[in-house]
Amino acid sequence: MVGRWPKFCSNSVPGDLVRRMIQGESAEVTFDLASLIRRRRMTRTFQGGPRLDDVVRLAETAVRAPSAGFSQGVHLLILDEEGRLDFWNRTGAGSWFEGRSPGVLGATHIVLVFGDSQAYGDRYGQEDKRDLGLADLTQWQMPYWLVDAGMVAQNMLLLVEEKRWGGLFFGVHGDQTAYFQDLGVPETARCIGAIALGFRSAEDAPSGSPTKRRRRPSEELVHIGTWVSLG
Ligand SMILES: Cc1cc2nc3c(=O)[nH]c(=O)nc-3n(C[C@H](O)[C@H](O)[C@H](O)COP(=O)(O)O)c2cc1C
Repeated sequence: MVGRWPKFCSNSVPGDLVRRMIQGESAEVTFDLASLIRRRRMTRTFQGGPRLDDVVRLAETAVRAPSAGFSQGVHLLILDEEGRLDFWNRTGAGSWFEGRSPGVLGATHIVLVFGDSQAYGDRYGQEDKRDLGLADLTQWQMPYWLVDAGMVAQNMLLLVEEKRWGGLFFGVHGDQTAYFQDLGVPETARCIGAIALGFRSAEDAPSGSPTKRRRRPSEELVHIGTWVSLG
């Protein structure tokens, strides 16, 4: 990733670049995406958070993700202040985290991630896609609106990490039809989950399953030529 100084000054910048900056030269800073991916982890203790405007800006970047047929049917719904409290109360997620990871409730924003099947039905009904028969949503073997929503969610998590904020992706369980209706969400949109967002507290430590389960070595997950390991 390439950014312009000083917007991304929180990343490490080589000394000669700093000197050139001080001299007023504009320069490009290259970031290591691989390190960002490896460093990202879920945050479960928040303390304060960014301004709504800054969250919106990140969300606007996150939705620039790949989408099947360029259908662009992934939506992010950002909740802050009252909307956030309403989310915790109405979905039951608040009491769930209260008992397990109360630090999550310190998040300043909730970002709901939706994949809207309608956009995909419409897109695949267009002339260049019609032959596939996918305007009929029952014919999709793989619901790409959910695949695409996952891509946007990961974009958001990585952008949050790049800012050195904190994020937690989690599932929204139970029947939330009435709640989503009240938020104006169309019936065709499925919520794949929520991202709690804020500043990662200095007290936040790695938590959740990664502290109890081993990380599978990449050789178990990356296969070359055949799934079966040849030893
Ligand atoms: C689809 C999905 C659902 C998740 N649901 C929850 C959840 O309900 N509560 C929670 O604390 N973490 C949840 N997580 C976070 C995972 O537990 C976490 O990503 C995993 O343990 C790996 O940890 P890391 O992301 O910190 O590397 C979820 C993650 C995903 C991708």
